[in-house]
Amino acid sequence: MSDIQEREDRHTSGLYQKRPLAIVRGEGAVVWDSDGNAYIDCVGGQGSANLGHGNTAVAEAIARQARTLASCTELFYNDRRAELYDLFARILPAELDRVFLCNSGTEAIEGALKFARMATKRSGVVATMRGFHGKTMGALAATWGPEYREALGGEALFPGTSHVPFNKLEALDAAIGPDTAAFVLELVQGEGGVRPATPEFVHEAARLCRERGALLILDEVQTGFCRTGTMFALESYGVVPDLLCLAKSIAGGLPMGLIAFSRAVGDLPRRSHSSTFGGNPLACAASIAAIGEMERLRLAECARERGDQLLRGLRGIESAKVREVRGLGLLCGIELKENAGPTIRALQERGVLTLGAGPTVVRYLPPLVIGTEQIDRVIAATAAALA
Ligand SMILES: Cc1ncc(COP(=O)(O)O)c(C=O)c1O
Repeated sequence: MSDIQEREDRHTSGLYQKRPLAIVRGEGAVVWDSDGNAYIDCVGGQGSANLGHGNTAVAEAIARQARTLASCTELFYNDRRAELYDLFARILPAELDRVFLCNSGTEAIEGALKFARMATKRSGVVATMRGFHGKTMGALAATWGPEYREALGGEALFPGTSHVPFNKLEALDAAIGPDTAAFVLELVQGEGGVRPATPEFVHEAARLCRERGALLILDEVQTGFCRTGTMFALESYGVVPDLLCLAKSIAGGLPMGLIAFSRAVGDLPRRSHSSTFGGNPLACAASIAAIGEMERLRLAECARERGDQLLRGLRGIESAKVREVRGLGLLCGIELKENAGPTIRALQERGVLTLGAGPTVVRYLPPLVIGTEQIDRVIAATAAALA
């Protein structure tokens, strides 16, 4: 056991299921452990490292802004924040022209649920089975996974919340009613097993919400920022929600979350929501640089091409253990007929870090700067791990 592990174990909350590996450095799509071993990083900061590790443009923007002004709450206006708002106005659908900045994915969902309740004066929330939206109290209502709420007293804690089967139109029709404030949806379920939504499900959800006065919240915390082959997955589905939640790779690895919303949400009561760190100039500078780099490096195109390569390679593996290979862009997963743990460990031994998505799915979330030769190595390691 390394010294790092021992020191963390002495004080850690105990809430995380950790692997016995201390990661100390990264460059592009590779990370190194404290013993100097290199790994191809298909965990990618669980989706927060789309840009790759050690991007110098982002590092320099952070350093420059840290020397200029790191803290400035929304009590005041700020030049970096204004620049970031302009940037999002350019890259988001025109309807989503108002923005609330926060610090994480769960906080973005939390805020979006509050905004929807305030705007509709309704309290019901409909979400999907296997959906994941974070674990703070509000977001947890939308997250599926009875195991996350058992210790809190179970379903009774979240009255007015229901979960419909993903990609099933009839259930949706029955669930969205006169008390529904919002329907919350991931376009590709990430934690829930790498499951892309069908376009019919997404369009019907948007139609039903419009028809019944509920608001559609898209959770692009994991699918955003080029991951699925377009800057935002909503582009490939051709859908514009009332509220859009973003986080993870938004600021090149710095914590940041964002809710973009349309005028349909109406005027929100002043002071009904806020965040001290939300919209701080340091995170804004990092985000401006990170999005600039995503565009310069054409990461959406990279995700499409490398994603096709990875999916093709994984589908070509002949193994009786594989049930299905799924994905969109570089959000890919193999569903096994057995627990995914042993395969994830075998991949790690072969120098590839992956993560689970539910009990039986091995998920690949590499930085989008990953090269073709590195993808070939990931495919070869997976074939060996499943042999
Ligand atoms: C789709 C989705 N929504 C929300 C979250 C929560 O984000 P965070 O961990 O930043 O709170 C996650 C995290 O994995 C996610 O994948």
